[in-house]
Amino acid sequence: MGLYKLKVATGSDASAGTCSNIFIVLVGINGEGEKHQMPRHWSHFLPESVAEFDINETKDLGELLLVRVSVECYLKFILDAWFCQYVNVACPNGQLYQFPFYQWITKLGPVEIPEGKGVLITGNTHTSLLKQRKAELEMNREMHKWKVYADGVPHCIDVEDDDASKLPANDQYSLLKEYSLGYNILSTGFEAMLKGFLFNEGSWPNLEDIQLLSSLRKSHNSGIVSEIWKEDSFFGSQYLNGINPTLIKKCFKIPGNFSVCEQMVASSLGTSTNLETELQDGHIFIADYKILEKIPTNTIKEKKQYLAAPMCLLWKNPRDELVPIAIQLSQTPGEHTPVFLPSDSKFDWLLAKIWVRNADFQVHEIDAHLLRTHLLAEVFSIATIRQLPMGHPLYKLLMPHFRYTLEINVRMRKQLIGHKGLFDQSVVTGNGGVPVLLKKAMKGVTYSSLCLPDSIASRGMDSIPNYLYRDDGMKVWSAVESFVSNIINYYYTSDVMVREDPELQAWVAEIFKEGFLQNKSSELPSSFGSTASLIRYLTMVIFTCSAQHAAVNSGQYDLYSWMPNGPTTMRSPPPTAKGATMQVILKALPDVSTTALGMTTVWTLSNEPSDRRRLGNYRNIRFTEKTPQQFIKEFQVKLAEISKCIQERDKTMHLPYPYLDPSEIENSVSI
Ligand code: FE2
Repeated sequence: MGLYKLKVATGSDASAGTCSNIFIVLVGINGEGEKHQMPRHWSHFLPESVAEFDINETKDLGELLLVRVSVECYLKFILDAWFCQYVNVACPNGQLYQFPFYQWITKLGPVEIPEGKGVLITGNTHTSLLKQRKAELEMNREMHKWKVYADGVPHCIDVEDDDASKLPANDQYSLLKEYSLGYNILSTGFEAMLKGFLFNEGSWPNLEDIQLLSSLRKSHNSGIVSEIWKEDSFFGSQYLNGINPTLIKKCFKIPGNFSVCEQMVASSLGTSTNLETELQDGHIFIADYKILEKIPTNTIKEKKQYLAAPMCLLWKNPRDELVPIAIQLSQTPGEHTPVFLPSDSKFDWLLAKIWVRNADFQVHEIDAHLLRTHLLAEVFSIATIRQLPMGHPLYKLLMPHFRYTLEINVRMRKQLIGHKGLFDQSVVTGNGGVPVLLKKAMKGVTYSSLCLPDSIASRGMDSIPNYLYRDDGMKVWSAVESFVSNIINYYYTSDVMVREDPELQAWVAEIFKEGFLQNKSSELPSSFGSTASLIRYLTMVIFTCSAQHAAVNSGQYDLYSWMPNGPTTMRSPPPTAKGATMQVILKALPDVSTTALGMTTVWTLSNEPSDRRRLGNYRNIRFTEKTPQQFIKEFQVKLAEISKCIQERDKTMHLPYPYLDPSEIENSVSI
């Protein structure tokens, strides 16, 4: 009974407003109110508007539980979709209720929005809320179905014709993001085309001329990389602070199939030490690309392409540099598998390193980037939409970290790794190699490898100096863990509450089934027994979707635009003997058009389109209680401190490492 004052907010995207009629019903513990049409005025539902309405109810609704919103056509117009940010209601007794939504309403018929407090289902949950949660999840499961992308690979979203425009509206890019991505692709590709690079199928006449292409787009780091790429210390440092910083591990014993011996590396190590001593002292590291053995290779412009499965031995020298000291380009030793050394001719050594960089490109893009961030983020996203209703606190916590992930992944499956996609046109693992490599890579996806502290420890990388991915990453990991811990301990005050949350348990079980394919040896959990286990898992999820993706995504142009530092493919087989010349190297490297295609691709992928959300930016206020809002503020303060620290450090560096600066990390996998 009395006057209820409503505030109704429309989204900021250019198309968020509506001319449709909006109706609202308030639902409280004492029952439902009348169905009220919001008065029409041209300015009420424009983008970014907050319209205010008063409605009269003839009965006291009591504590408000939800609002029921419906959109109906104006006159005989077709339905004009509406992006509703939130509805706030002030009751006659002054009590304020908030109903955060932040979703599109695209269909006729009502949508129910629960009051904003994070709520776990218990025996006392009101039947109206139980019904709302059930209906929401049923609808979401109908709109988000799983599909098998490839055998042995995490399942993905089932979209008609693999067409991103057929995704549910809430999963699609905003207009701003869509247009800025289109601009990034077209402007770079068009320029490369106009200048003739995309049509030139010849070899580069010399390495220097590659500058003609890479200088079309310059980043601070890409220019430096093109100058120092031949240096052994830079080659080694990329395992620590490059685009693929999770492959390197400490070597305690030389693998039996690596023919390197004491005598071969003596000139690298000097007279004051030897290989055995350096192994024992923990100064020897290895990058092993065994996973690339027997991966089908591509044919580009009717020419067979080649891939090696190398092993590279590295040494942390007394100057604390990590430098390569031996490279074998095959897993099978023998007469035709030479071990390349820094003491070889400069062309032999350079060609061996280029082959390793080509192998690293494949493992980085398919395993570290595609599988371990994009595809896993998609699994986390779909399971959340299907199993956690919007009133669940973990929905509120996680949804910002899945923003636009489904859209970029659907595009990626079609335009990047799909039939005749960019990988087919320019990468040795295109045309059949990608799914095979993904399946092999899945065997290495373990819980510990997804958790940064465990990954570092298991690879023996705790103490090596200048490992900025580790140092910056651990700061971000700790900040995320602390934030998650605060949120979880607020909503789950005991382990029993975790065990007895049916929605949470269904969520983790679905991820285990659809994402980790029920592989028990991965040690990923299929249920949670305690708040501690939940905190660890959620930290992994948020870190994977934000910081880990930034670490393996943002530097692609910096590191790969100078093509010889990351060739997408090789046109000659790996050398079976020494004696390389510059002509041999130029013949093996990608031709001009393939280089141009690779350059435009990494430019696009490195540049997050507009409409960004940085890590910890929760612009959509889904948590309406004061305490979680305070936790968010503390998280943001912590991230700002980390950011300042990294930016100060980077000012002193010739080649900065900005990829894990929180102010550069996106909240979600969205490019
Ligand atoms: Fe990415």
